[in-house]
Amino acid sequence: MSGDAINVAVVGLGEIWTVVQRAYVECPGVTVSALCDRDEGRLAAASALFPSAFATTSLEELLARDDVDYVEVLVPSPAHCDVACAALEAGKHVQLQKPMASTLAEADRIVEAARSAGRICRVTEDYVFIDSIQALRDVVTSGEIGDPLSLHTKLVGTGPGAWDVRSDSWRWLMPNVLSGLGLMSYDHGWHHFAVAYWLFGPATRVSAWVGATPLGGPYVMDAPTTIMWDHANGVRGVFDITYAPEMYWDSDYYGGDERFEVTGTLGYARVNWVTARGIGGPVLEVYRDGATRQYHSLDGDWARGLVRSTRSFSEFLRGEHEELMFTAEQGREILALTLASDESSRLDGAAVSIS
Ligand SMILES: NC(=O)c1ccc[n+]([C@@H]2O[C@H](COP(=O)([O-])OP(=O)(O)OC[C@H]3O[C@@H](n4cnc5c(N)ncnc54)[C@H](O)[C@@H]3O)[C@@H](O)[C@H]2O)c1
Repeated sequence: MSGDAINVAVVGLGEIWTVVQRAYVECPGVTVSALCDRDEGRLAAASALFPSAFATTSLEELLARDDVDYVEVLVPSPAHCDVACAALEAGKHVQLQKPMASTLAEADRIVEAARSAGRICRVTEDYVFIDSIQALRDVVTSGEIGDPLSLHTKLVGTGPGAWDVRSDSWRWLMPNVLSGLGLMSYDHGWHHFAVAYWLFGPATRVSAWVGATPLGGPYVMDAPTTIMWDHANGVRGVFDITYAPEMYWDSDYYGGDERFEVTGTLGYARVNWVTARGIGGPVLEVYRDGATRQYHSLDGDWARGLVRSTRSFSEFLRGEHEELMFTAEQGREILALTLASDESSRLDGAAVSIS
């Protein structure tokens, strides 16, 4: 469909749609042709934004339409596999939000459904489209900090100062937690593992202690958590997760104090904040030979990264570039690291090989 105008159908019009929709408002060459959500109120709100789009509460009805080239899947992650496979089997390409799936068997089902339908399933990841994270990678690959030795990523789950996650989202996030898919290490942690994968390739083994802070009732937050892994290229990764719900942390979006720091043989490069700007300051710092360089004007905005990532798939389908980032097969590799950390923790931190 090189250069042709293409049609997208969106399924799931909840919290993340409030940001993803920005990618499709005035997006040259892409038309939102159909909208689907089981919730009629959300469907009506989205229809007001895209009045010419066909609106339905039925996925089957949406998938039966001819004016859909790809389906933007924004339903809760436990439903990703069923919705993505149904769309692929109906002959549509799919753009699928993270985390790709809940199990490797589900990821395999998605990969196979795409292969047998001859369609593409792309897994959306936004962090790797944020300018600050792209600049981090540029510094690392330029050799400026020498040969990379380690990646340290940090996430502190904070409280006031950020978006309140809608109660609807909690309704599926918390059962996820009960089945071992933690909010911080799996649902959000996906971004950290995706950046690690993008920087240094597949991991070979992982060890983890996943904590459990009681939240009331049967629910827990999966912190404090420490996860460490080796990449096949020799770089060691550590992901350090803390839960501090009373900490004020300023954000236009979701909360959380985050870092990505790569140490090399000659220096380091560190992204100081991502989704939440927190205390501000330079978004990227690079140290080498006794001097630091600070980036204050580099764009660190998370939502713009998500918008760019979302648009990237339609640009790919229109033949404007050849980079899928991430393919379903790559998504499976990211999921393998994510899930193996939980398995290691169940084994009290024993190393788990990643296949
Ligand atoms: N990239 C990011 O930073 C980011 C941030 C938040 C959420 N997400 C991901 O986006 C996805 C959605 O999360 P959310 O927070 O928007 O959830 P949400 O609960 O706010 O919204 C999901 C919507 O999907 C609808 N839905 C569920 N099953 C459906 C079906 N079979 N057919 C039609 N509609 C259906 C629900 O009615 C709801 O409106 C998840 O995979 C989540 O992990 C990504």
